[in-house]
Amino acid sequence: MADLRRAFVTGLPVKHSRSPLIHNYWLKKYNLQGSYQAVENTTDGFPQFLTNLHENGFVGGNITLPFKEVAFQKFDQSAYQLDEAARSIGAVNTVWLDDKLKLQGGNTDAYGFSANLDAIAPDWDKKKNALVLGAGGASRAVIFALLQRGFTKINLVNRTVERAQALATHFGSMVTASSWDVADSLVAEAGLIVNTTSLGMSSDGVEERFPLNLQLADSSAIATDIVYIPLETAFLKQAKNAGLVTVDGVGMLLHQAVPGFEHWFKIRPEVTSELRQLIIDDMKNS
Ligand code: ATR
Repeated sequence: MADLRRAFVTGLPVKHSRSPLIHNYWLKKYNLQGSYQAVENTTDGFPQFLTNLHENGFVGGNITLPFKEVAFQKFDQSAYQLDEAARSIGAVNTVWLDDKLKLQGGNTDAYGFSANLDAIAPDWDKKKNALVLGAGGASRAVIFALLQRGFTKINLVNRTVERAQALATHFGSMVTASSWDVADSLVAEAGLIVNTTSLGMSSDGVEERFPLNLQLADSSAIATDIVYIPLETAFLKQAKNAGLVTVDGVGMLLHQAVPGFEHWFKIRPEVTSELRQLIIDDMKNS
């Protein structure tokens, strides 16, 4: 057989994943002999699937919900290699076999978050104070990214304040947890405001108001949402109305895919406006 490198995305369910669209776009663009496919797994079958990657003919792949944390726990308890981001975030979204066929795991969400801002609001990391809304899995990746890029004050606000406190304990003294009722008082000092909550991700199409007064923000503040359906969330709409620079979440999805593709297919792919449009068009059709 020719040198056909095969990669996957696995989850439960996996059919909604846009990763095949992204990676197959790049495979075609770079004219590579490779494949990228969606593989649905069961909770029981997933660990074995990961252990048998090479036997199943894969060079690596992406791991999506609900297996990201499972993959972390499995990696954590074994001799497998985990990168710093995966260890700190507590989730693995990308795996690959190294030259010695040893399984490696990483988390590229923090990279995707930073690379998206680098591309659209290049001076974003000159700010040192951030307000992060939400304390779920995505928030962990965002906080890791902010600390890596030199933020020294991160106010973390969450409806369930205990979850925010747990993250503050995990990440250390630069992260301060607060409940949502004080969120407005933290807006003015923030150079970067990040929404990681599912608020404004309206499934019924009804316009929702985002519960934060963005009119209080500094005029140079940047607002970014990691949610990309809809493309302009209630949070981003309000930020735009308040005159802030806004960065939507599609770019994070695209950029987080770059390191995986490079590991599997040995070419560092480019996030192009054509690829962005492909994903946006797909969102409109689904
Ligand atoms: P993810 O992994 O995408 O971050 P998650 O772990 O389910 O998903 O976290 C969702 C986040 O959205 C949480 O911060 C959640 O707040 P709670 O921890 O209090 O549940 C937040 N969220 C979801 N719906 C919300 C709502 N109606 N109001 C405020 N926050 C909400």
